[in-house]
Amino acid sequence: MWEDVGEENKLSEPHNTKEFRAEAHRMVDWIADYLEGGARDFPVLSRSKPGDLSRALPTEMPAEAENPKQIWADFESMVLPAVTHWNHPGFMAYFGITGSGPGILGEMLSAALNVNGMLWRTCPAATELELVVLNWLRKGLELPDDFFGFLCDTASISSLLALAAARENADIEVRERGLAGRDDLPGLRVYASDQAHSSIAKACLTLGFGLDGFRAIPHDDDYRMDVAALRQAISEDRRAGFRPLAVIATVGTTSTTSVDPVPEIAKVCAEEYLWLHVDAAYAGSAALCPEQRWCLDGCELADSFVFNPHKWLFVPIDASALYTRHPEIFKRAFSLVPEYLTTPMTGEVVDLMDYGVQLGRRFRALKVWWVLRSYGLSGLQMHLRRHIELAQAFSDWVDEQPHLERAAPAPFSVVCFRAKPPGMEHGEALDGFNMRLMEEINTSGDVYLSHTRLDDGIALRVAIGNIGTDEADLERCRILILKGLQCLSNP
Ligand SMILES: Cc1ncc(COP(=O)(O)O)c(C=O)c1O
Repeated sequence: MWEDVGEENKLSEPHNTKEFRAEAHRMVDWIADYLEGGARDFPVLSRSKPGDLSRALPTEMPAEAENPKQIWADFESMVLPAVTHWNHPGFMAYFGITGSGPGILGEMLSAALNVNGMLWRTCPAATELELVVLNWLRKGLELPDDFFGFLCDTASISSLLALAAARENADIEVRERGLAGRDDLPGLRVYASDQAHSSIAKACLTLGFGLDGFRAIPHDDDYRMDVAALRQAISEDRRAGFRPLAVIATVGTTSTTSVDPVPEIAKVCAEEYLWLHVDAAYAGSAALCPEQRWCLDGCELADSFVFNPHKWLFVPIDASALYTRHPEIFKRAFSLVPEYLTTPMTGEVVDLMDYGVQLGRRFRALKVWWVLRSYGLSGLQMHLRRHIELAQAFSDWVDEQPHLERAAPAPFSVVCFRAKPPGMEHGEALDGFNMRLMEEINTSGDVYLSHTRLDDGIALRVAIGNIGTDEADLERCRILILKGLQCLSNP
C-alpha cells in the first residue's frame, strides 16, 4: 500500500532522504514482486498501439515538482502498459535476457555512486573492478592470459571498436589523415558470413568502409561460414585491387546460433595477415560450462573477441565484454588526451577512456561483479545448462510433430522451427502462414516469439535465456503453437 511520507513532494530538495527511503522501499518491494512472478501478470508483448503513450503524456515538462504518488500512479497506468516485458519468463524473442536481482542491486549502487570511470583517478574502483571482473570472465571462458578486456555498452559498439582497431592496425594513417579525399587508398574490405549480425555491416558504414566494404560470405548447410568461399573472396578482392582488412567469425549467429569454424577462419587470417574479430555476443557465455567450451575453439587466435554478459549471463542490459590481445592498437586508434584529462599517473595506469570513443563511463563492472559473486560459477552453469536442456527438449518435441519442422540445428538455447501444414510447400504462402502463426501466439500475452528468414523461408525462434523460464513456460508455448496451428489450418 502507498504510504504518504509528507504532504508535499520534497524530492526536489537535494537528497530528501526521508522520502527517498520510502520511495525506494516501495520500489524494491515492487521489483521483488515483479521478479517473483509478478511479471507474468502483464502480457509479455505490450499491447500498446503506436502513439498511445505519447498521447497520454503531457506535451510539456512539469513546471513544478510533482507528488511521487502521482508519478508512481502514472508509471503504472501509462508507462507499464507500453512496456514489453523482456524480464518476463515467457519472453523468448530475439535472445531471452535477464535483469537478475543481483544485477539490479549492482545497477542501483552504480546509480547511487554515479561515478564516471573515464580515468583511473576519477574512480580507481571502476577501472580496477572492471579489469578484475573481465579477467575472471576471461579465465572462466578459458581465453588466453594476454587477452585484455574491458566493458562496452553493446556488442555493436564492441565490434565497431574492434574494427577501428583493425583499421589502425593496417598502417594506412587513418588516424592522421582519415579516409575521405584520399586517392592513395584502395577500397577496404571486411568479411563475415551472411549470417553475421547487422552490427558488423553498420560498423563498416560508420568507419568509412561503406557497405561496399563489407563482403558477406555464404554459409554451409548448417549456417556456418563457408571457409572455402572466404578464401576465394579474399583472393578475388586482392586481384581486383581491394585491401582485405578483417574477418569476423560469429560464435552463435543471431538467427540460428550457428558457430562459424573459427580455427579454420583463424588460419586464413594468419595466412592473409587479416585481423580476426570473434562475435560471440550471445553464445560466449555458454563456454563457462566445460561441455560447451568447444564453441570457443580457435578463439585463442583472435585479435579481438566480444561476448555480452547482458545477453546470457543474467546481467541487466547493458554490458558487453570486449577482449583484445592488442590493447596498444586500440590505444593507437583512440587515445587522445587533452591537458584537462591528464593526471599525475597518466601513462602509468589504465585509463579506460583510451580504448574507445566515449569519455564518460558508467560503473558497469559493479553489476557484473554482483552477479558473478551472487551466483558463483556453479550457479551460472546451472542456469545455462537448464536453458540448454529446455531448448533441447523443445527441439525434440518439434521433431516429433507431424506439422512442424526444425529449420536449423539448435546447438544452444535457441530453436528455429516452422509450421508446415499438409499440402503447403516452402514459399510465400508458407511464410505468410508462419507469420500469422507467430502473431497468433504473441497476442496470447503468455509468450513472445520472433522470426527470421532462413534458406527455406521464414522460421520462428524460441530463444530461452530468462532465468525465470521453466518447463511450464515451454509447455504453454507448445500448446499455443498447436492451438494456433489448428486455428489457422481450419479458419
Ligand atoms: C551475434 C550478435 N552480435 C551482435 C549483436 C548486437 O548486440 P548488441 O545489442 O549488444 O549491440 C547481436 C544481437 O542480438 C547478436 O546476436
